[in-house]
Amino acid sequence: MPVNATRTATHRRFLMCRPQYFGVTYSINPWMDPEKPVNTALAIQQWENVRDLYLHLGHEVEEITPVEGFPDMVFAANGATVIDGRVLGARFRHSERSAEGPAYLAWFHDRGYRDTRIPVHVNEGEGDYLLVGRQILAGTGFRTDSRSHAETQEFFGLPVTSLTLVDPAFYHLDTALAVLSENEVMYYPGAFSQGSQAVLREMFPDAVLANAEDAAVFGLNALSDGLHVVLPEAATHLIHELRARGFQPIGVDLTELLKAGGSVKCCTLELRTG
Ligand code: ARG
Repeated sequence: MPVNATRTATHRRFLMCRPQYFGVTYSINPWMDPEKPVNTALAIQQWENVRDLYLHLGHEVEEITPVEGFPDMVFAANGATVIDGRVLGARFRHSERSAEGPAYLAWFHDRGYRDTRIPVHVNEGEGDYLLVGRQILAGTGFRTDSRSHAETQEFFGLPVTSLTLVDPAFYHLDTALAVLSENEVMYYPGAFSQGSQAVLREMFPDAVLANAEDAAVFGLNALSDGLHVVLPEAATHLIHELRARGFQPIGVDLTELLKAGGSVKCCTLELRTG
């Protein structure tokens, strides 16, 4: 889309999980240091600000009841992938999170979602699966098994493009790439293998490119409704770039959740009813 094009927001439905039992009690990514203190009350406050912002922007937010003993359950994006009302459940790489898969799937069953699948291969939901228009970008390298990509393509009947992550700090696709509109993304090239960088250049020649500083503050862990882009406020270069392209970036503070290696997008699972 040209730089000064008029952008419009489309209405979204999200699933979120209050960080009631949030903490860093184990380490499954380089951001997590169980020795570092975490302020759960502050995490809840920061999370509520994001939830309230979504509501203020006119979006709908559903909440799944947090479960004690699952400190990472706040990262709802990992709970499933939902497209056209069909739900692909998650199967976590690490045993610390494995019980979250069934917990999220149960929520969908309770809400009357019938077209669901218990996955065969490891996949961490929208952490590694991002929908751009009618195609799916799929991350692998650290969490989601590359064999899951074929399973996902078959289940949704949508083309899946595999992208390989190479930097352990950006272990999920949604830490290195964000969808901005039906045909636009922003990403940090350094998080991807050479081949995957070439694929991204081929598919999105005009993409917004993040620099290392943006990536380090999780600036790519962002949620766009087509106009507003909610992202960590510390990603100042990205905020500037997005504004120049006609988006309305909105910076938020989720630094308490960053201690677990998550931010805006990680806390947000999109419910696409189709
Ligand atoms: N501590 C969590 C993990 O390592 C963070 C998950 C972040 N979620 C995301 N969608 N990137 O699994």
